[in-house]
Amino acid sequence: MSSKQIIMLGGVGNASVIAAAIKDARRRGYDEWDVIGYLNDRMQTGEDLEGLPVLGTLADVQKFLDKGCYFINTIYRIDGQDLRIEMFEKLGIPDERLATFIHPLAYSAGNTTFGPGTAIMPHVSLSSGTKFGRCCLVFANAVVGHNDVFGDHCHFAAQSCTGSYLKVGRGVHVGMNASVRENLTLGECSVVGMGSVLISDMKDYEIWAGNPAKFLRLAKKELTS
Ligand SMILES: CC(C)(COP(=O)(O)OP(=O)(O)OC[C@H]1O[C@@H](n2cnc3c(N)ncnc32)[C@H](O)[C@@H]1OP(=O)(O)O)[C@@H](O)C(=O)NCCC(=O)NCCS
Repeated sequence: MSSKQIIMLGGVGNASVIAAAIKDARRRGYDEWDVIGYLNDRMQTGEDLEGLPVLGTLADVQKFLDKGCYFINTIYRIDGQDLRIEMFEKLGIPDERLATFIHPLAYSAGNTTFGPGTAIMPHVSLSSGTKFGRCCLVFANAVVGHNDVFGDHCHFAAQSCTGSYLKVGRGVHVGMNASVRENLTLGECSVVGMGSVLISDMKDYEIWAGNPAKFLRLAKKELTS
């Protein structure tokens, strides 16, 4: 069977890291997916990004849908998260054309479920009974507890550790090396700062940081970068 072609939405950072992991999986013999390039509104078409071309801008999604390509979205920020999610949803990519990629070096309990467009990086450990929404990104060495329910577009940075029975709204960011106590509710677009230890619920758009984490500020609704 020939590989299905993925185009990354985004650039250096989330997109290039996931593209590298897809290439690494192929070197290990897992060839369901191949990554062929990026769509990026801030780079020139044809530009090279770590060995893969920028194939166009987000306006070109339909052209590549017509060619049979699949997509992974990586365009997220802590501030302006809602607008970025809205921008992605407006592209109208059907769920069946969102690639779900799980690196072969990740551990996933058999009854974990993944929404389309979700990417799981190497050395992630996912416990049983957890449900991922659409387009969640889980970076290297993150550990995810059992029976969590994650909304769409959640982002778990490298080495983060989330407890069990969490209810997590869409667009949440758990920072690098942060820990989240079990049984908490994390509101839509809320953020746990890097290295923080969260022991309280967070409401929508709240950013908490420190150990124990305290409320820092609200995430901005507008785009800042
Ligand atoms: C929490 C976070 C969003 C705050 O960003 P910010 O609003 O720009 O905050 P600032 O850097 O202006 O810092 C504001 C205050 O919060 C403190 N602070 C910021 N991040 C903190 C953290 N993670 N833990 C503890 N304190 C933190 C700062 O020391 C500063 O304190 P002060 O006012 O007493 O000097 C950011 O620091 C963070 O942790 N981002 C996540 C990074 C990450 O996970 N990256 C993954 C890469 S893919």
